Amino acid sequence: MPNSAIHASPRVCVIGAGPSGITAVKNLLQAGITNVICYEKNTDVGGNWIYSPQVSHSSVFETTHIISSKKLSEYDGFPMPDDYPDYPSHNQLLKYFRAYALHFGVYNYIQFNTEVTNAQPHKDGRQWLITLHNGSVETFDYLLVANGHHWNPRMPQYPGKFNGELLHSHEFKNNLPFKGKRVLVIGGGNSACDVAVETSRVSAFTAISMRRGYYIVPKFMFGKPADMVNARFIKLPRWIRHSLMQFTHRIIVGDMTAYGLQKPEHPILGAHPTMNSELLYQLRHGKVHPRPDIERLEGNTVHFKDGKAEQYDTIIAATGFNISFPFFDTHLINYTDNDVPLFKRIFHPTLRTLMFIGLVQPMGCIWPLADAHAKLAANYIAGNYQLPANLQTEIDKDLTRINKRYSKSHRHTIEVEYHEHLQELHKEIPPNAPKWQNKPAPAYSA
Ligand SMILES: Cc1cc2nc3c(=O)[nH]c(=O)nc-3n(C[C@H](O)[C@H](O)[C@H](O)COP(=O)(O)OP(=O)(O)OC[C@H]3O[C@@H](n4cnc5c(N)ncnc54)[C@H](O)[C@@H]3O)c2cc1C
Ligand SMILES: NC(=O)c1ccc[n+]([C@@H]2O[C@H](COP(=O)([O-])OP(=O)(O)OC[C@H]3O[C@@H](n4cnc5c(N)ncnc54)[C@H](OP(=O)(O)O)[C@@H]3O)[C@@H](O)[C@H]2O)c1
Repeated sequence: MPNSAIHASPRVCVIGAGPSGITAVKNLLQAGITNVICYEKNTDVGGNWIYSPQVSHSSVFETTHIISSKKLSEYDGFPMPDDYPDYPSHNQLLKYFRAYALHFGVYNYIQFNTEVTNAQPHKDGRQWLITLHNGSVETFDYLLVANGHHWNPRMPQYPGKFNGELLHSHEFKNNLPFKGKRVLVIGGGNSACDVAVETSRVSAFTAISMRRGYYIVPKFMFGKPADMVNARFIKLPRWIRHSLMQFTHRIIVGDMTAYGLQKPEHPILGAHPTMNSELLYQLRHGKVHPRPDIERLEGNTVHFKDGKAEQYDTIIAATGFNISFPFFDTHLINYTDNDVPLFKRIFHPTLRTLMFIGLVQPMGCIWPLADAHAKLAANYIAGNYQLPANLQTEIDKDLTRINKRYSKSHRHTIEVEYHEHLQELHKEIPPNAPKWQNKPAPAYSA
């Protein structure tokens, strides 16, 4: 643990030691900033990827495999082992995260079993007062937030009352509790499709209710991981790439209505991708039954918007998560039902000592992007990178782009395209930046 009493370089707090937090610490250390403490409420690194049979910080499911391919899911300069498959399992990924943290000496800077309960700007935002669950308060010059955004369940609301069991996918671990039951899964994202596929193996009946049409993308196309096929087109203009993807999906999968699903009203790149080969298979084998949106609930009966009604024992709402920061005063930061106005998805417009790492929902993998966020943040703290004068204009442009591109939904407020976002970050990261030179923290400019 670094000595907090004597510090020549700025004192930096990182909240969370999930895939984003560990790369934050690694990149700070590599920029020569060693006066770092990372607070982690769990007992080890890994965040969502620590599988837990109990309800916890939204662990992955027992059967989860990653949805982006191995090559496009690696931290910079730290490849996954050669014997890992195209889409590694959650156990393999957890090993990878722990190997990364060990390799770069990150563990030495993490204080486990320690929850941050409050984070307050101090000295006009030039410092932070961080309160821990035991009541102690620490002062830091910078705060890097990496607490994750897939842990606080967002529940749907319907008229009426359901008398059966109503869960969120956050509570789903495996299919054992659903043996012989009639299960309705709600949602069209990756959780909904994974959960429906899993319950369909053991349930008496599984249906999936989607409130709109989605493109369900198989994990392999032309014998290659789908994102590797997409990566071949990244140099092309977005509209050509989009047409090619739409065409390729049409050739390989066909019309979504042939699977009993609704016709998507958005373009293929206009929503976070749902990657699932097995759902398509289970739909065509009559193991998962497609249903429209729900109108109301009554006892054990679910009334759908097409006028049909069916009885269910269990409803699993795979309806996503709230972006939340319980340690911030909501007057300071509240992104739950709002836009997320950050420069390059990292820097707060006025609190210049506050940065977010991994607060993106990419069409691709999160942690290579978190790695790039952390590189830029570390260079900024080390004094090698200046924020532009027109920060707010850039943020506004970014928000307009997000709102124009993606279908209107809470989950799309932080949507980015993997290659595009990585490229824009790489343009900003100074090459071969010198290490920390004892420069003062930038002034607060609210
Ligand atoms: C079922 C499931 C499957 C997923 N599959 C994929 C996938 O295939 N690809 C992908 O890119 N993403 C996937 N995700 C998204 C997942 O969130 C990211 O992969 C990744 O875990 C994000 O890392 P993170 O560090 O930002 O957040 P997290 O993994 O959530 O880690 C945050 C860490 O912060 C700690 N923490 C939170 N609050 C505090 C506090 N106040 N004080 C101290 N510590 C705190 C938590 O304990 C946790 O360890 C999946 C998510 C789920 C739920
Ligand atoms: N590796 C894996 O296999 C895997 C598994 C699960 C999750 N993940 C990842 O984890 C993250 C979270 O995924 P997620 O699927 O849990 O959440 P998500 O991506 O936010 O998807 C939530 C889904 O629920 C729908 N929804 C939300 N509110 C609804 C309502 N009131 N009524 C009906 N439908 C509603 C959304 O519809 P809209 O389309 O209208 O938004 C969307 O289809 C994503 O990054 C995902 O890629 C990966």
